[in-house]
Amino acid sequence: MTGSPCLLVTGGAGFIGVNLVRRLLRETDALILNLDKLTYAGNLESLADLAGDPRHNFIHGDIADRELVRKLLTDHQPAGIFHLAAESHVDRSIEDAGDFLQTNVVGTYHLLQEALAYWKQLPAQQAATFRFIHVSTDEVYGSLGQDGFFTEESPARPNSPYSASKAASDHFVRAFHHTYGLPVVTTNCSNNYGPYQFPEKLIPLMLLNALDGKPLPVYGDGGNVRDWIHVEDHCAALMAVWRYGRVGQVYNIGAADERTNLDIVHQICAAVEREMPVAKNPRLAQKGIRNYTDLITYVPDRPGHDRRYAIDPSRVKAQTGWQPVMGFADGLRQTVRWYLDHPDWVEHVRSGTYQDWMKQNYGWRLEEKK
Ligand code: NAD
Ligand code: DAU
Repeated sequence: MTGSPCLLVTGGAGFIGVNLVRRLLRETDALILNLDKLTYAGNLESLADLAGDPRHNFIHGDIADRELVRKLLTDHQPAGIFHLAAESHVDRSIEDAGDFLQTNVVGTYHLLQEALAYWKQLPAQQAATFRFIHVSTDEVYGSLGQDGFFTEESPARPNSPYSASKAASDHFVRAFHHTYGLPVVTTNCSNNYGPYQFPEKLIPLMLLNALDGKPLPVYGDGGNVRDWIHVEDHCAALMAVWRYGRVGQVYNIGAADERTNLDIVHQICAAVEREMPVAKNPRLAQKGIRNYTDLITYVPDRPGHDRRYAIDPSRVKAQTGWQPVMGFADGLRQTVRWYLDHPDWVEHVRSGTYQDWMKQNYGWRLEEKK
């Protein structure tokens, strides 16, 4: 292939996608084709500074739109696909799993079909290096007891509608490799945190609520354990898997950083206190609150709430050379700082006006690409 390669990223306006697109632009010379439906979780304001970058081509569309995906693959001839587009929030899947089934399962199936047709007609050299990187979650493995870790051999035992839809997509990806030879690699990663995360997820929700003096809603007894990884470390792992991962292989990605939710909330309170002491926060003073921890409120548990996740990342480390570099304390401090330093982004997301912002700033482009 001559010139810079093109890479298709699906879901590149979401939390991990935005961080991945930025890293790909920074660390490769690839042209990025970013296909995103812009659901409530997609936010082009997160990519505003890339608007004039000729290496970033944003396409407003659905992974289930076969004609659109076919045209993109034919016109741009990508050397690989990073598939991140999904409905990603467990609580929403408990309310209604329809969109999860549609995007995570049906959408992935349509994307796989088009990727397969495209891959089959590639010249031998390009076909040999093409990769379909399927970005999935550790939640497909279900829940652990007090001991042990999820390995790539752990059986799929999804417990939430979200994880059931992701497990189904993992199975389709596996089947497309086994049956048709599509060169896929699947990753199952633990809980991410960092810049640009939508504040429905634990860490941004808690830190923004603390700053506003709102309750910090801890589900159940707060003893559920999650294994945390900074989004930059996850994106570095995805790039390592793309470069060095073995075709047909599954890689568990995690930074071996297990914590209870209550511990996380206390650490968030401490990190927020360091960056914005409660005594100097007028919103807290108005409410007579002296400690951020006073805002902790126990609420009814999430139905079917998985108790513990923990990843054994030895395969991805051994086969790709990847290592996480961000410690949790530093990552959390940086994340709190990022949200404090981006009040407009936060305000637009929380008020819902980021969707108006997208229409005003990208409206012509979104219309054109429909
Ligand atoms: P997110 O919800 O922040 O972003 C998802 C993106 O996908 C959004 O931009 C949305 O507009 C887009 N999208 C949704 N439906 C689409 C469709 N039909 N066509 C095109 N685009 C569509 O999610 P995230 O946290 O960035 O997660 C990205 C991927 O990583 C998901 O597949 C998720 O399952 C997986 N994952 C997430 C985590 C985590 O902790 N956030 C951990 C492991 C794996
Ligand atoms: O493990 C990877 C998964 O991590 C990803 O696949 C998902 O896309 C991502 O959303 C995340 O799922 P979780 O359900 O673990 O994340 P969430 O931030 O929703 O919740 C983290 C933990 O915190 C979980 O045990 C529920 C709890 N929680 C969450 C919220 C939003 C609370 O106690 N209170 C809350 O308000």
